[in-house]
Amino acid sequence: MSERDLLLRTAEIAADFIETLDARPIWPPASVEGLRAALGGELPDDPGDPLEVIEALAAACEPGVVAIPSGRYFGFVIGGAVPAALAADWLTSVWDQNAGLVVGGPAAAVAEEIAGRWLVELLRLPAGASFAFVTGCQMAHVTCLAAARHAVLERAGWDVEGRGLVGAPPIRVVLGGKRHVTIDGALRLLGLGRESVVLAAVDDQGRTSPTAVEAALEGHDGPAIVCAQVGEVNTGSVDPVGGIAAFLRGTGAWLHVDSAFGLWAAASPELRHLVEGVELADSWATDAHKWLNVPYDCGLAFVKDPAPHRAAMAMTAEYLVADEGAAWDAMDWTPEFSRRARGLTVYAALRSLGRSGVAGLVERCCRHARRFAEELAQLPGCEVLNEVVLNQVLFRFASDETTDAVLAQVQESGEDVARTLAAFEKALPR
Ligand SMILES: Cc1ncc(COP(=O)(O)O)c(C=O)c1O
Repeated sequence: MSERDLLLRTAEIAADFIETLDARPIWPPASVEGLRAALGGELPDDPGDPLEVIEALAAACEPGVVAIPSGRYFGFVIGGAVPAALAADWLTSVWDQNAGLVVGGPAAAVAEEIAGRWLVELLRLPAGASFAFVTGCQMAHVTCLAAARHAVLERAGWDVEGRGLVGAPPIRVVLGGKRHVTIDGALRLLGLGRESVVLAAVDDQGRTSPTAVEAALEGHDGPAIVCAQVGEVNTGSVDPVGGIAAFLRGTGAWLHVDSAFGLWAAASPELRHLVEGVELADSWATDAHKWLNVPYDCGLAFVKDPAPHRAAMAMTAEYLVADEGAAWDAMDWTPEFSRRARGLTVYAALRSLGRSGVAGLVERCCRHARRFAEELAQLPGCEVLNEVVLNQVLFRFASDETTDAVLAQVQESGEDVARTLAAFEKALPR
């Protein structure tokens, strides 16, 4: 069997999966034990036929694959894959470029450079902002907060890349009480421990405020980093980034925004008022694998001033050939060295959706969320707990037991959006 035959057969398996997405249960039937049994056995001593390997892998995995790309998947904030991005992801693997340096794949580098510029424009970030394509919002935080650490310490006369953190002026880090845990993870990796952190008060939607940030900074006039949030993971709530930026102006503090999904509201004329002022921050972390719907994994870091971004990330070595004429050596902007050509999927998604397609995708999703909230609120005993501003709907029934039982039944029913609402009604105890 030729490699062509192998790839064609793989394409058939993939198409079969895609074509069953509308009907298959979202949660797969196999247990972890069943999957261990199906995939397990001894490490083979000898080579196997690639097609047999793929057929066996697909058959063993199929009962354990969550139908995440389905339109009926409502768990977490997890995207599917627009068709052009999915196909571009295949090509990314086939071309197998090492997209750290331009010499590792000039086409991949240029596609990433162009996709990055398109994103800056689409998300209405300051022109000239630098960007990095990373694995997810987690590493986007690491990238942005490394730039922040560089900048605030440089302002205090400390070269963190040269001298490290031992003996550095202490940085106060202000986080909203409901920040995503990946911010804490990023701070830990950057050597900014829990004792650097002061939590700013939040309201019942998880929003912080300029006054809460002011209180958290009180008594500190050294280097400071403030992390705001656009799209809280439970409620979708949006911090008043413009107000926080206005308060911080002239203080030398760095304002970072966790906008893993919320930043995409800026791409929609209908929704962008919700994130007004977000462009006034210094850095933004978001994901392409959430609302842009490119296949996992792809996160995005943006930094208003490219200088601290590059200073925090760039590496050189004698054997690395930097192409002076080429702008985009991703290695200068990302924490990774060798890396997947992530820009290709983003390029394909943006080119196939266009501005109106991205806006429509975000708006449609928010419309569904509003409809869920309106109709759920009419069910007996159901209480919607959040102000539905973006895509998150938080609700409960009279008791945790009822909520769990209803959700289990709805998940089992595997219905689409309209019928999911009907399934809620059916699942309610009489
Ligand atoms: C607000 C927020 N920040 C960060 C993350 C982490 O994103 P990732 O899983 O891409 O690292 C999430 C994930 O849901 C999120 O909702």
